[in-house]
Amino acid sequence: MSVQNFDFCNPTRIVFGKETIQRLNDLIPQDAKVLIIIGGGSVRKNGTLSEVETALGKRHFDVFEGIEANPTFETSMQAVEKIRHDNFNFVLGVGGGSVMDATKFIAGAVKYSGDTWEIITSKGKKVNQVIPFGFVPTLPATGSEMNTNAVISRKTTFDKIGIANPLFSPLFSVIDPTKTYSLPERQVANGVADAFVHVMEQYLTYSVHAAVQDRFAEGLLLTLIEEGPKTLKNPQDYESRANFIWAATMALNGLIGAGVPQDWATHMIGHELTILYGIDHGRTLSILLPSLLNEMRKEKREKLIQYGRRVWGLQGSDEEKIIDEAIAKTRTFFESIGIKTHLKEYDVDSSAVEKVVEQLKRHNLTALGENGDITLEVSRRIVEASL
Ligand code: NZQ
Ligand code: ZN
Repeated sequence: MSVQNFDFCNPTRIVFGKETIQRLNDLIPQDAKVLIIIGGGSVRKNGTLSEVETALGKRHFDVFEGIEANPTFETSMQAVEKIRHDNFNFVLGVGGGSVMDATKFIAGAVKYSGDTWEIITSKGKKVNQVIPFGFVPTLPATGSEMNTNAVISRKTTFDKIGIANPLFSPLFSVIDPTKTYSLPERQVANGVADAFVHVMEQYLTYSVHAAVQDRFAEGLLLTLIEEGPKTLKNPQDYESRANFIWAATMALNGLIGAGVPQDWATHMIGHELTILYGIDHGRTLSILLPSLLNEMRKEKREKLIQYGRRVWGLQGSDEEKIIDEAIAKTRTFFESIGIKTHLKEYDVDSSAVEKVVEQLKRHNLTALGENGDITLEVSRRIVEASL
């Protein structure tokens, strides 16, 4: 088997480094009428918003505040109404993955003439134009700053659904690592875990002898293993924070996923855990991934051994032992950065198993994984093993 055909294009401009927010002045047209989208106020408190406002200078702008973690359709639609009503023609998301994802949806929904919920049910495919948008990311985790995905929730109906469209590529992301210093430990750990699992979902499948993608993926995993704990310990150490941030961006910008099979079952099951129980995204992944790797150990055998040897430095000829240790080390890594990896530690009991399976069925997620062989029965075993 060899690397699959691919068509890779990532048009997002990345401006990275200290004191870069002022660059917004040359990235956004002078005559733009800008709606800044923010979350619950962290970017007000840490000074990012005021720097952004200064950079916008004399441009007409306003702020829409209140995008929640795990952004909702309802709140995003309030921003859409505001844009339509006041004729904004540029959207600037300033915040974490939730703000960025909401901004993508908003940019597409403003121009959408039908019922905007169709954007979600079509998984983003029905979007055929967006208003221009860019980002000032403040939380390294999702890769949303340089990819074409967004995840939107509707709490009343227990839906958390991924949407994707090439039009969801941001025009630019201005990443100043110092703007992430104010993150609480919990969010930094979530970000390390999320980025780690993004790499795993594109790497730990079956081999297509994609040497470049594999080595890049292993490099990112090693970087996260080394820099994650450092940046948690010393949040204001620029070097480790900058390395962590760039690893998180590269983990899900299309590069390592080009031409290789991808899994994404951990994410799909994880989204159901978030919408049902409110567990942070990165934590759901840390709970599920070790169980999934163990459940799929036959199908993923070759890659699990490669991962154990190249990423964790495991040696010896007992391949079953290498697989066991590679999975154990993965779990220990999540726990070492302060993430609990069992559902019961989040006060979730065995009744979750049926609930998650029911959600997966309702969302047609019945053939997950790189081979489409993670059926509802397999997902059930994965959740059971994660209790
Ligand atoms: O709301 P505010 O006040 O801004 O506070 C946020 C929020 O409470 C806070 N925060 C962000 N930057 C901060 C900060 N606090 C202090 N200092 C800063 N610099 O952090 C909290 C969590 O923010 P959120 O944006 O929700 O986190 P994250 O970036 O982890 O995003 C999670 C969302 O992204 C989706 C997830 O499903 C979830 O909905 N994902 C998006 C993906 C994509 N677009 O490609 C892929 C991912 O797999 C993921 O599914
Ligand atoms: Zn993720």
